[in-house]
Amino acid sequence: MPKDLRQFLAELEKKLPDEIVHVKRKVDPKFELPAVLRKLQEEQRYPAAVFHNVKNSAFPVVSNIFSSTNRLALALSADPDNLIQDYLKLEGELIKPKVLRKAPVQENVISGTKVDLSKLPIVTHCEKDGGPYVTSGVAVMKNPETGIYDVGIFRMQVQGKNNFGCLYGAYSKAARIIAMNDANNKPTEVAIFIGHHPACVLTSQTKVPVDTDEFWVMGGILGEAIELVQAKSIDVLVPARAEFVLEGVIPPNTLVPEGPFGEYPWYYGLERRSNVINIKTITHRNDAIYHDIFSAHQDHNYAAKIQREAVLYQRVKVAIPGVKNVSLPISGTCRHMGYISMRKDFDGQGKIAAMAALVADPMMKMAVIVDDDIDVTNESEVWWAVTTRTQPDKAVFMVPDSYVSELDPSAYSIKDRNRRDYLNTKWAIDATKPVGIPFEERADVPRDAWANLNLDDYISK
Ligand SMILES: Cc1cc2nc3c(=O)[nH]c(=O)nc-3n(C[C@H](O)[C@H](O)[C@H](O)COP(=O)(O)O)c2cc1C
Repeated sequence: MPKDLRQFLAELEKKLPDEIVHVKRKVDPKFELPAVLRKLQEEQRYPAAVFHNVKNSAFPVVSNIFSSTNRLALALSADPDNLIQDYLKLEGELIKPKVLRKAPVQENVISGTKVDLSKLPIVTHCEKDGGPYVTSGVAVMKNPETGIYDVGIFRMQVQGKNNFGCLYGAYSKAARIIAMNDANNKPTEVAIFIGHHPACVLTSQTKVPVDTDEFWVMGGILGEAIELVQAKSIDVLVPARAEFVLEGVIPPNTLVPEGPFGEYPWYYGLERRSNVINIKTITHRNDAIYHDIFSAHQDHNYAAKIQREAVLYQRVKVAIPGVKNVSLPISGTCRHMGYISMRKDFDGQGKIAAMAALVADPMMKMAVIVDDDIDVTNESEVWWAVTTRTQPDKAVFMVPDSYVSELDPSAYSIKDRNRRDYLNTKWAIDATKPVGIPFEERADVPRDAWANLNLDDYISK
């Protein structure tokens, strides 16, 4: 049975039954649906949630799929304790897609004047969001010169029956494809799929080079060839087992106001001028399930965590062969702050690791480097190292006026430090011990004495 969203939900139900909940009561997609997730968060619970009855829509919604490491591991058939290495192996295994003539996603075809986005259960998440947003839609585009496919998630604000405002960050390959078509005053054809096996959705976050077809990468990450079918109204191949596909065009050189929107740093991205998508056709499976990502919350951050950690690991490894592990913790938005552990071979090497980490990804604002006895997935360990192994005037360095994310609400403009833009100071803490002079040992009970000790032999019930 080829992999898709339904097969994943059944597998989740069987293998991790505590990680999925069902909501049968009717919910409003505006605030009430995300309110259930927010309340669960308040109780430190992050299950995937299926909403079976959503006001004004015939379709159920599944949300919060990505907000647990166990579910990310299940999606990737990976070991939760070895996610980065397992992911890197999958990402490197390119598998040729399979093109079908007939596909489940085209069981229902809605075209022309019948297209009506208000029939979809599109969720409004945060109080000041500019309206309902599709948050898990994976855009599929073809490079007009090479025909190579690109996939990425880009926020899509409903702006009428068949229009979206859509933000393609200037750094993205998608924005480059649109710019190439804009230069020739040509529209860009785009298909957006919503709802598929989470491995396909996670593929949207790869940072492979432009000459690598991301459908081939999707096959590797999915663990089998991705099945594709020709879209109905545009010249683009689309995933055959997706739940929905929205086929549309981005008119050239046309921008509209779009936003505000609760973003990954858990602040609002301000209203801005973004591209338009005119939807020509919607296709969907029988009994289609709509996939939502709970934006501005853990689901949003974790959807890109492993892929960004993989990039950080690979790029730091070029400078530091002894890098042991990396982590982009949720406290740093899974983007702005990285912890890196390494075997330090000579003094000064911790600073090299820090510089490599700060340039590994433009969104990195802060790096903390620790020795290889520190578990970077445990924040207490990392900050224990910082508070006991550093002389801060030497351990900390800063690089002012660096490019960071414009969604960092403390970033500023070169013209005016009080105006929001994309500059900020990048900084790092080298919390590694010196090599050339002795350093105190960690005080602890001998490991042999406690590692295999059975507490039941000591503590009475
Ligand atoms: C939930 C989610 C929402 C995202 N929204 C946007 C967005 O609105 N605009 C954007 O430029 N990138 C967004 N991203 C990041 C891009 O999807 C990501 O950088 C992707 O790799 C870009 O694809 P491309 O460079 O292959 O075109 C989002 C990522 C996630 C996980």
